[in-house]
Amino acid sequence: MDKIVNVAIMGIGTVGGGTYEILTKNHDFLLKNQGIDFRVKKVLDKNLERIRSFGIPEEKAASSVDEIAADKDISVVVETMGGVEPAKTFIEKVLLSGKNVVTANKELISKHWPELEAAAKKGGAGLYFEASCVGGVPIIRALEESLQANRINSLVGIINGTTNYILTKMTEEGMSYEAALKEAQQLGYAEFDPTSDVEGYDAAYKLSILSSLAFHTCVPYTCVYREGITKITKTDIKMGSEMGYVIKLLAIGKRTGDGVEVRVHPTFVPKSHPLAGVGGSFNAVFLNGDFVDDLMFYGRGAGARPTGSAIVSDIVYAAKRVSPLYSDFDNSGKADVEISSDYVCKYYVSISVNDATGVLASLSNVFAKNNVSIENLIQKGENGRAAIFFLTHACKESDVRRAVSEIEKYDGTNRVENLIRVLE
Ligand code: NDP
Ligand code: HSE
Repeated sequence: MDKIVNVAIMGIGTVGGGTYEILTKNHDFLLKNQGIDFRVKKVLDKNLERIRSFGIPEEKAASSVDEIAADKDISVVVETMGGVEPAKTFIEKVLLSGKNVVTANKELISKHWPELEAAAKKGGAGLYFEASCVGGVPIIRALEESLQANRINSLVGIINGTTNYILTKMTEEGMSYEAALKEAQQLGYAEFDPTSDVEGYDAAYKLSILSSLAFHTCVPYTCVYREGITKITKTDIKMGSEMGYVIKLLAIGKRTGDGVEVRVHPTFVPKSHPLAGVGGSFNAVFLNGDFVDDLMFYGRGAGARPTGSAIVSDIVYAAKRVSPLYSDFDNSGKADVEISSDYVCKYYVSISVNDATGVLASLSNVFAKNNVSIENLIQKGENGRAAIFFLTHACKESDVRRAVSEIEKYDGTNRVENLIRVLE
């Protein structure tokens, strides 16, 4: 006999709507292949009109989270409201009532995973969040279940759809930053407050979750170095391209000697690297394991249907598991390994200078004095000013920063315009 699983959805916006669409349109497909009759029993949203817009009968609208928590027939609750509160309180309530929770909320998981997991354990329930990272791409399940044999050495990803969409439009169509952001918002990729996307917070939340799972250790999001894309100019994109690179907002997690390195920042990626061709709202994670070697996961990182696909995968997973799955490391909320910050890579440094004799030689001397060796440079000059774009060999971040602060004080310098890391 088929099993009936009643589901509640809290927040029926982009992702909640995509989830509802899959559960209704693919109801019979799921019944036939999974042997489970999934029924959306209750929907909670601030906006009754939105519930109606999905053709959901009004009697399914819940008046409060308490109504959902008290409903003994509901065994899986989807949280797709977003934000920290009241999502945290709502999730804790339903977990304590013994219901499995499926969420897309990376901000909440990265900030309060330990408390939520404690509530899940207390309620004997599961907490699943495949949709929180990389949209429709099944990266979390892969890290938790398919790659157990491996010590993951590194993961490098494009894990924010909005910024990848913006940078792709700026690069390929010469579109302005503002126009590209507006399009990403209209397409439903951006967070409620797009600052989270463009300043790299969203990617930092996701990197903290992915690194914790990949490295089997707690990597709080506050330990993730973060820089957004708002300072990237069309000139940087053009000069990078002349040097053989494309700009991407990368999230990088690496195992180092004693600990891990976790950072989110704009990065020049060699045009020949598999991540260079990941455009638009697509996401990808390139990882290396000690036995599996290189792997790349690629797909849609945002949007109603891809993210809904990840949510429904967790609903099925929760409904089928005999006992809940919890993290396999001490999920204390505190880093228990060293988080290193003196990265080693190539750097692109863009400097505006006075176009005078000896300026280039002086800048080169400052770099050399600070152990920074130059691999390539481009100079463009007009009206007594020159723009010089340096590409260094791999060097320590502390060395390049020391050189840059010395250059900033030098008379011949007008401004250090930008410093962008380069993927090896
Ligand atoms: P939306 O804003 O489209 O949807 C959220 C819905 O929840 C809205 O209908 C909102 O109503 C409702 N809501 C918010 N607060 C409450 C509340 N207190 N009580 C009842 N209803 C509430 O957001 P998204 O679907 O884009 O995002 C949802 C979550 O999914 C977020 O955590 C986001 O980070 C995550 N996510 C989003 C992706 C995407 O592509 N959009 C991809 C992956 C993850 P109202 O609009 O009136 O506030
Ligand atoms: N705002 C997020 C993005 C949604 O652009 O990637 C997916 O998590």
